[in-house]
Amino acid sequence: MLSCKALTIRFGGLAAIDNLDFEIAAGEIRGLIGPNGSGKTTLFNLISGIYKPTSGSIVFEGKPIAGKRTDEVTRAGIARTFQNIRLFGDMTVWENLLVGRHCRLKQTVFDDLFATPAKRREEAAARDKLENLLRLFHMEHLREELAKNLPYGLQRELEIMRAMASEPRLLLLDEPAAGMNPRETAQLTEQIQRLREQGFTVLVVEHDMRLVMNICDRITVLNYGKKIAEGAPREIQTHPEVIQAYLGKQVKDSA
Ligand SMILES: Nc1ncnc2c1ncn2[C@@H]1O[C@H](COP(=O)(O)OP(=O)(O)OP(=O)(O)O)[C@@H](O)[C@H]1O
Ligand SMILES: [Mg+2]
Repeated sequence: MLSCKALTIRFGGLAAIDNLDFEIAAGEIRGLIGPNGSGKTTLFNLISGIYKPTSGSIVFEGKPIAGKRTDEVTRAGIARTFQNIRLFGDMTVWENLLVGRHCRLKQTVFDDLFATPAKRREEAAARDKLENLLRLFHMEHLREELAKNLPYGLQRELEIMRAMASEPRLLLLDEPAAGMNPRETAQLTEQIQRLREQGFTVLVVEHDMRLVMNICDRITVLNYGKKIAEGAPREIQTHPEVIQAYLGKQVKDSA
């Protein structure tokens, strides 16, 4: 589904992603882990079109997407969430979903002026899809609630829903459990599993190792922008270089 080859981005002298070969198959839940500053968010920024690679390629469903604009990448079928909450707090749950949906609408100025049947049909179909999303996340009763009034865990879930409103086939989640309490994290874990059942492909960056080990089919480990390991959760947990990367970091941080 997604294939990165020799992907590299440099910021000055630093290669934040360094000659990375990386592939995801349709239908899998892939974990992306690594110490702080290892390049996880940078990889998301490259895939989603925020950064242009210095060199290398990114191919999604057979189409090259490296260097495309973020809206083009969204239209191609990739959506993401951000490490920090980026909701419209003063908008309702429903309005936040409409914003996420926006990039999918094919309406023209004429549709706007004359409310053509085509537009009305499209709006009805969009509404149905958003209703389904609300149901999938058990938030039907919260549609008129302002985003800022939701408990923290639900705000983070709303971000995922908003990303999904663009109907992606690949969903990139950057630390979705950050700041969540154990109960919220458990609920999020279930929710991501439900996404898999619905056929979505997910790439998730997460520091909560329990979540990662529980839900991921495979895990890719970055360190200094390079892939140092890849495999099933069990293999990753016992991988010497992974343990070294995390322990080395801990030693440095506590020094
Ligand atoms: N726009 C930029 N300009 C300069 N350096 C950058 C830029 N974006 C990222 N970097 C650098 O690239 C490296 C990787 O950063 P990145 O944010 O991808 O790490 P991360 O793995 O997501 O870390 P964390 O777990 O803390 O979120 C860091 O050294 C960072 O300072
Ligand atoms: Mg990050």
